[in-house]
Amino acid sequence: MRAAATSIALAVLVSSFAGLAVAQQIPPVPVPAGNPITPSKANLGKVLFFDEQLSSTRTVACATCHIASRGGSDPRFGFHPGADGVFGTADDVVGSPGVIATDANQQTTKADPFALVPQVTNRKAPSMINAAFSPTLFWDGRATPQFVDPLTGQQVLNQFAALESQAAGPPTSAVEMAHASRDWTEVATHLGASKPLALASNVPAALAAWINGRSYPQLFQEAFGTNAVTPVRIIEAIATYERTLVSNQAPIDAFNAGQQNALTPQQNQGRLIFNGPNANCAVCHAGPLFTNNSFQNIGVRPIAEDLGRGAVTGNPADNGRFKVPSLRNVALRGPYFHNGSAATLVDVVEFYNRGGDFHVNQNPLVHPLNLTQGQKDALVAFLTVALTDPRVTNEVAPFDRPTLYTETDRVPASFGVGAAGSGGVVPRFVAVEPPYLGNPDFSFGIADALGQAPAFLAIDVLASAPGTTIGGVPLHLAVSPAFQLWSLGSYADVGAGEGWLAFSTALPTNPTLAGLTLFLQAFAMDAGAEHGVATTPGLSMEFFATP
Ligand code: HEC
Ligand code: HEC
Repeated sequence: MRAAATSIALAVLVSSFAGLAVAQQIPPVPVPAGNPITPSKANLGKVLFFDEQLSSTRTVACATCHIASRGGSDPRFGFHPGADGVFGTADDVVGSPGVIATDANQQTTKADPFALVPQVTNRKAPSMINAAFSPTLFWDGRATPQFVDPLTGQQVLNQFAALESQAAGPPTSAVEMAHASRDWTEVATHLGASKPLALASNVPAALAAWINGRSYPQLFQEAFGTNAVTPVRIIEAIATYERTLVSNQAPIDAFNAGQQNALTPQQNQGRLIFNGPNANCAVCHAGPLFTNNSFQNIGVRPIAEDLGRGAVTGNPADNGRFKVPSLRNVALRGPYFHNGSAATLVDVVEFYNRGGDFHVNQNPLVHPLNLTQGQKDALVAFLTVALTDPRVTNEVAPFDRPTLYTETDRVPASFGVGAAGSGGVVPRFVAVEPPYLGNPDFSFGIADALGQAPAFLAIDVLASAPGTTIGGVPLHLAVSPAFQLWSLGSYADVGAGEGWLAFSTALPTNPTLAGLTLFLQAFAMDAGAEHGVATTPGLSMEFFATP
């Protein structure tokens, strides 16, 4: 008996030493048996991840909110009003801008609380890099390892498929990528009729060579054996691409491989504090991925604002718990926490040093640390440099990416000044959708005018000289022979700054129009305007041809 017990203890000891050594290296990516990784599928997934045509407005790709050089997150600082629905209060969330609200007819529409500006997610975007290692995804873990076909409700994959479960969400989310009541049948149809990456530029050479001018059905043929563009295939390809996004070449990896000088003495001091028994960072941010994938409440905000894991499990003990994020590449992806409330890593370290901010249900591992300034600096140095993979910072393969349409000056642009109407509000254009020739449903609008005021829209192929006015009102169009002025009836809604209109039209297909710039200006007859007319700034919009 005694001998047996000893040998078991020895075995445990040996295996935990082995575990320690192995724990320094990132393990192989878990792959669902029903969705093996193939180069074709990963390439197709990469195309899809960067294709803004996956959204109904053609303005949002997965990559809009998940940018490798920003550690897989989003630096754009959209504000969500938080649980109270009121902007400018303490519970506001720094999230990711998605689509401007779009109705079931694919037309831009005014919907609270984001009225004609891109809607913002109610949490900060976490990273897609190394997400393949997380058994469940999202801050609250609601994307589970069992993947269900969004059309049929049938389970397709029974384990390791949180990436698939996650990718099923955004294309039909009316905040992130979709018009109201969009379903996955439509996502697949819309995508199948689009030219792969037609809106992207600077497509990485290897990816462009793989696409080689082919259509989506042809790409699906290569990746899946037949040319059907189905929801499950779209999702499986995206997840496969994400499984190739393994970041494991940070200084900490060289250090763990035995290269002692991969960390400076200060970074190493930070590492020891991180791993030490006072700060306890490595208890939760454990192992080579710097997360144990558990859900913990560290006291970022009062529980009631966002129940986090508790809303998924219904267990009150989970209220206020969020998934422990991996800290790899964390320096690139501020602001931090599920609500983006900590601007910098210095702020995060100060947060932990004071023991967090809200203590109901808080994990006792988070407590005042009494670190000296030198210790705090060392911890920040460790987090900033030691965990950052230069391939991620520099978007080197597999983290390379095309430029998105919305990241270029092809987006229609405002120029010059407007003239305020009632309430001192200057009307503006709402124009983000791509003016490419043949766009079957290009939608744009006018916002912030006086509700019910008579509305006019002017258009020209030439702009006026800067500073031109007419009757005291700025005029941005040259009134060339091509000038046109339309009466649009009156602005919808009631009240100063509340008026709006939106339009949807098919753009011409004639290739000779490529490069033609239209200039637009909208007016509101408004007694509250200084000269009786309120106007938008000018809008310039250049038609472009897709490849
Ligand atoms: C409008 C911005 C936006 C778009 C578009 C978007 N995401 Fe996200 N993504 C987010 C936000 C915000 C979260 C966190 C939401 C939550 O936890 O409730 C998230 C979470 C994730 C996660 C989970 C990471 C983790 O560690 O839990 C992955 C993976 C991901 N997105 C991949 C994708 C893919 C693939 C697409 C395209 C099909 C996509 N995202 C489109 C904003 C976006
Ligand atoms: C009890 C588990 C736990 C401990 C201990 C812990 N963390 Fe965290 N950490 C979390 C969780 C959970 C989050 C996400 C919380 C949220 O957003 O509400 C987080 C978030 C972070 C973030 C922000 C990451 C991002 O992408 O937004 C950083 C940086 C961080 N922790 C560093 C540390 C450091 C440094 C320590 C030690 C001083 C530490 N953590 C200790 C669980 C823990």
